[in-house]
Amino acid sequence: MGSRGFFLLCLLCIVKKGISSKGWSMHVPAEVTSEIGKTVALPCTFTHPHSTYDKTLTAIWRVKEPYNGTVIFKCIAHSSSDVCRTTVGLKNRYKLLGNPRQNNLSLQIDHVSWNDSNRYFCRVEFSGDLHDKYESRMGIRLHLIAPPRIVNISVQMDQDHAFHAKCTAEGEPLPTVTWAGPLSDNATSVSRPTAHHITKELQHLVLDGKYTCTAANSLGHAEGAVYFYKFKAGSGSWILILLFVALGIKLLALVVILGIGAFWKGDKFMATTTLSRQQRQESPYENFSRSISSVSRSLAERI
Ligand SMILES: *[C@@H]1O[C@H](CO)[C@@H](O)[C@H](O)[C@H]1NC(C)=O
Ligand SMILES: *[C@@H]1O[C@H](CO)[C@@H](O)[C@H](O)[C@H]1NC(C)=O
Ligand SMILES: *[C@@H]1O[C@H](CO)[C@@H](O)[C@H](O)[C@H]1NC(C)=O
Ligand SMILES: *[C@@H]1O[C@H](CO)[C@@H](O)[C@H](O)[C@H]1NC(C)=O
Ligand SMILES: *[C@@H]1O[C@H](CO)[C@@H](O)[C@H](O)[C@H]1NC(C)=O
Repeated sequence: MGSRGFFLLCLLCIVKKGISSKGWSMHVPAEVTSEIGKTVALPCTFTHPHSTYDKTLTAIWRVKEPYNGTVIFKCIAHSSSDVCRTTVGLKNRYKLLGNPRQNNLSLQIDHVSWNDSNRYFCRVEFSGDLHDKYESRMGIRLHLIAPPRIVNISVQMDQDHAFHAKCTAEGEPLPTVTWAGPLSDNATSVSRPTAHHITKELQHLVLDGKYTCTAANSLGHAEGAVYFYKFKAGSGSWILILLFVALGIKLLALVVILGIGAFWKGDKFMATTTLSRQQRQESPYENFSRSISSVSRSLAERI
């Protein structure tokens, strides 16, 4: 009984091997994980049934689906001494890492972005006197991860003249976002996650002070802060000053501040601008998470 089962199983695997590949095979991992912005290598090696092959060889990589997905990379080597000359993917972020003459089609992708999250398929074609080709059907899934980054932080006025602060962070795994600050009793927050992005709103800002948004996931955390100050002007109209210490979105902060300035054109606005400029000088985007504490301290001292 047991030996008969084993015999059938062996027969099956011989038949399967004989039909499916005739010596062709592709070896790729099911998944490759990379951090956003980094360089990643997609491994792909193959075997072929020919004892030697030194004629024209074409290496191809597709995305999305096998056989008719978009070709993102293609190179052709005419002889065994010829390098594989890129014909598709020129001046691009794709580069062949492996030596296709050594049955290695590994591809490098520089500076991966969210857009690169896809399935990748390698293919090799022999031409010349011998026409033969093979493509991986399984494909490699490129899984992207990213430490948290504060994308946007702002304070806005509702229709009912109440203020709310909004913080948008990105990351994968999706970060958890928390607001900290002089929270009043009825301040509530709402999260709205979309792909890699999450927005958390702090409603009914009442108390003046520094409001800090923290985004955290397994890869790290990032912080942004907004200073919220309301001054009651003589005639009962509210003047609002907001200082943004969301480094990495300094352009946005400047735009918002200039917008406020255009609206109020007061002394208080001038002070805001100065602080904002100093903040711009002190806070290179790249050092966001490290410089945030010192910058917010210096801002706090000046206020
Ligand atoms: C790829 O092939 C599938 C099935 O053969 C077809 O439905 C699809 O439209 C094709 N896609 C392209 C881009 O040609
Ligand atoms: C394929 O080429 C890459 C890049 O040169 C190398 O890192 C990898 O080890 C090679 N794979 C095999 C199986 O030799
Ligand atoms: C991402 O892909 C879309 C379409 O697939 C394209 O329009 C957009 O320019 C790409 N963005 C980047 C940064 O590559
Ligand atoms: C930041 O958020 C504000 C308010 O929601 C919005 O007006 C602005 O366009 C956003 N900026 C960016 C760069 O997403
Ligand atoms: C609570 O929110 C309401 C508006 O919904 C506002 O009128 C009131 O001043 C707030 N009270 C406190 C203590 O924040």
